[in-house]
Amino acid sequence: TYKYNIFQDITMLIIGCSHGRHLAQKIAKGLRCPYSNLRVKKFPDNEIGMRFMSSVRGKVIVLVQSFYGDVNDCVVEVLFAAETARDLGAKKVFLVAPYLPYMRKDKRYEPGECISGKVLSKIISRYFDRVYVVEPHLHRKTRLSGLFSIKAEELTSNPYIVDYIKRNIKNPLIVGPDKGSLEMVKMAAHGLGCKYAVIEKKRISGREVKVRLSKKIALDDKNIVFIDDIISTGNTILECAKILRKWGVKKFYCVAVHGIFVENALERLRKANINVVTANTIPNKVGKIDISQLISEALRN
Ligand code: R5P
Repeated sequence: TYKYNIFQDITMLIIGCSHGRHLAQKIAKGLRCPYSNLRVKKFPDNEIGMRFMSSVRGKVIVLVQSFYGDVNDCVVEVLFAAETARDLGAKKVFLVAPYLPYMRKDKRYEPGECISGKVLSKIISRYFDRVYVVEPHLHRKTRLSGLFSIKAEELTSNPYIVDYIKRNIKNPLIVGPDKGSLEMVKMAAHGLGCKYAVIEKKRISGREVKVRLSKKIALDDKNIVFIDDIISTGNTILECAKILRKWGVKKFYCVAVHGIFVENALERLRKANINVVTANTIPNKVGKIDISQLISEALRN
């Protein structure tokens, strides 16, 4: 049984919450530590109920929840679970959020608006001892540790993305869809030893974006690989492909971290000849890049 290394004789128990089981089991396997499901049910009036299926007393409890689908239910679930774990005698309660939502809302764009990313981080800080997030959507040089008052670790999936491209796409040219992607794009291009370009994007609404290219990209028969942290409606990538298509590019690749794919995003991307692959932070048909080891290693340290 894996012992949490700071508290030598304390057992770590990995708990798969309703939207985290796909990774929680792999993380537990990687750590060789016990795994248990959080049993969650929904009542006719939309309240949720939950139950731990193993004893949490005296243990370090790691709740794994990826926040997709009914994200607000996912939030309530982990807060209730953390409080319950403490009530049942857990020593420490950690949250692993392979995908943490609301981080795109990082400032007050209109007077009176809720800065959801900041609020959620504050709430999580009250309930947990630690939080681990894969590739949090952070702009303007904010770091995760600046948002949380508890130990907060951001885990970069970049080496996994680079490795995937190396093994599957020849002659790549990395293209980022907006300024926010620059850091990620640069790191990937550096790891691959190839060139990169960044497109300019203006967000009009939750669904609509406008993109433009301020300088010409030297395409040189390269394979265009869009890299982004999140794909939600898919419109960002679709619009970027639209511009490059005017220059004669017919086929595209896209490697992203969090494949939320709302509505029929995946199908629309496929129809536009964009071959998409994502990490498995959120389960989906193209989540081929397994990052469970990234999380196991972070928990081991
Ligand atoms: C935004 O800054 C993100 O990095 C993504 O580009 C964006 O969230 C993608 O959203 P959608 O797929 O809806 O265009």
